[in-house]
Amino acid sequence: MTTRHFACKTADVLRDAPKIVSVSNLSIGIFSLNDGYHALLNICPHKGAALCEGPVCGTTRQTSDREFVYDRAGELVRCAWHGWEFDIRSGEFLVDPTVKARRFDVSVEGDDLYLHI
Ligand code: FES
Repeated sequence: MTTRHFACKTADVLRDAPKIVSVSNLSIGIFSLNDGYHALLNICPHKGAALCEGPVCGTTRQTSDREFVYDRAGELVRCAWHGWEFDIRSGEFLVDPTVKARRFDVSVEGDDLYLHI
């Protein structure tokens, strides 16, 4: 069972830059994407860096040709320590989706954002 916790105002979460909040003794990054708000624990599952403080970015798509196609701009966060890329919506590490950053549900009520922990 989860509990709803006030996190911040919606205006505090900018595009391309997560709002880092401290809720329930956890550091959590809240991201604003086209489809709404998403939240990840600010701890990288690789070696524990502050994952959400890395750049919000896209990645190069795998193609059948020898070309580089940049894709998914703004949908990923790249850990600043070793460059692992995570899907902001699911928390999945792109190279191995069984490795996940912990994610939290987010809800909006008026101008307030809540985390469900
Ligand atoms: S600690 Fe995040 S990629 Fe290594």
